[in-house]
Amino acid sequence: MKQDYPFSKNISLAFKNDPPGQWLLTLPEGCIRLSSGYPEPLLVPAVGLKTAAVRLLEEEQDLPLQYMGSPRILQLKEFIQKRLAERGVEVAKEELLVTSGACQGIDLIARILLDDQAVVALESPTYMEALEVFQNYTEHFMAIPVDEQGLDTEQFAEMLENGKRDGLKMPRILYTIPTSQNPTGTTLTAKRRKRLLELAEEFDFLILEDDAYGELGFTQRPRLLKAMDDNNRVLHIGSMSKVVAPGMRIGWVAGPEKLIKVLSWFKKDLNHPFAQSTMASFLESIDFDDHLKLLTDAYQAKSTAMIEALEQFMPPAVTWYVPEGGYFVWVKISGVDTAEMLSQALDAGVSYVPGKHFFLDQERCEYLRLSFSYADAEAIVRGIQKLAEVVAANVPEKTGQES
Ligand SMILES: Cc1ncc(COP(=O)(O)O)c(C=O)c1O
Repeated sequence: MKQDYPFSKNISLAFKNDPPGQWLLTLPEGCIRLSSGYPEPLLVPAVGLKTAAVRLLEEEQDLPLQYMGSPRILQLKEFIQKRLAERGVEVAKEELLVTSGACQGIDLIARILLDDQAVVALESPTYMEALEVFQNYTEHFMAIPVDEQGLDTEQFAEMLENGKRDGLKMPRILYTIPTSQNPTGTTLTAKRRKRLLELAEEFDFLILEDDAYGELGFTQRPRLLKAMDDNNRVLHIGSMSKVVAPGMRIGWVAGPEKLIKVLSWFKKDLNHPFAQSTMASFLESIDFDDHLKLLTDAYQAKSTAMIEALEQFMPPAVTWYVPEGGYFVWVKISGVDTAEMLSQALDAGVSYVPGKHFFLDQERCEYLRLSFSYADAEAIVRGIQKLAEVVAANVPEKTGQES
């Protein structure tokens, strides 16, 4: 970008990158959206939120619309505290900051902990928006491979040991999505979770645990890293986006009081009192466990529909991880550049996100991310059938025969 204005030198790094949001697609009319990591429209509780907002305003008049907001803001915080406690994480009010979505939490953390000399360790591939945030602050990364069991802790340990031996700078933070990772859908095993905490202690870095999909396990909820954190090394990031509604922009950060205090200095009053108190009013009106059961049953059924359709329609050169929760299936198509194939898929009426967007710098990429969250099951099956035809036309013959 041309720098015609007196921009701060702190943002010069951001200009080195491509503009953010390159993965956002302009979808043709009627296209089946397997690219969007959004909740299914019917599972967004629009009526419940409307009723909650009306009740709130009737009961509290102007309060939720004032700067200081409604007493329900505190209730939202207490709800999050209680939920975390049920998952093994006891936090005081001073150790919890409600943010405008998980993304604001990630950005605030980057702002207070990173500078252009800091090294960030992260999964490769990882959530593209977090990647963009970190790239605004530093150019130094340690990209750790992910396999079916999540982040490969042994390779990470080796990278850390080799780096230390060679006098390289050690990571200041590790950003990880241990449960139902975006984009791979993988979940870190208990053994690796324990190892990660040991590595954080040994090599002295903080862990950012992004738990956006942590409540969406189909059959189980793995122990949070924060619940295993005896040394106050974990900053836990949560979100209401995937379990209630992303447009409410409600997330949180739980961690050591000192860090939370500094985060809140920088957050200032960038709050949404009305959204937070409406959320609290909504949460009062439902049984959250029942609500989650409804979501996980629905998403599990759609995940199964997607996996069965992949099995039925895809040529042999295509492989994938079967998710245990979350929104995504990570697909590998040997010999095919998925970014190049995208326009054909869109012409055929189905979308996906090319894998390259989830890596630091990968131009040619054989992976793509499918989302089973947004489209309904019937559309998912039709979408996979369309995609399979496009894939079949792109798979190099030799690779197809070999697999
Ligand atoms: C891993 C991960 N973290 C955070 C978010 C965004 O959360 P929020 O809407 O609360 O900012 C997403 C959304 O796609 C995500 O996949």
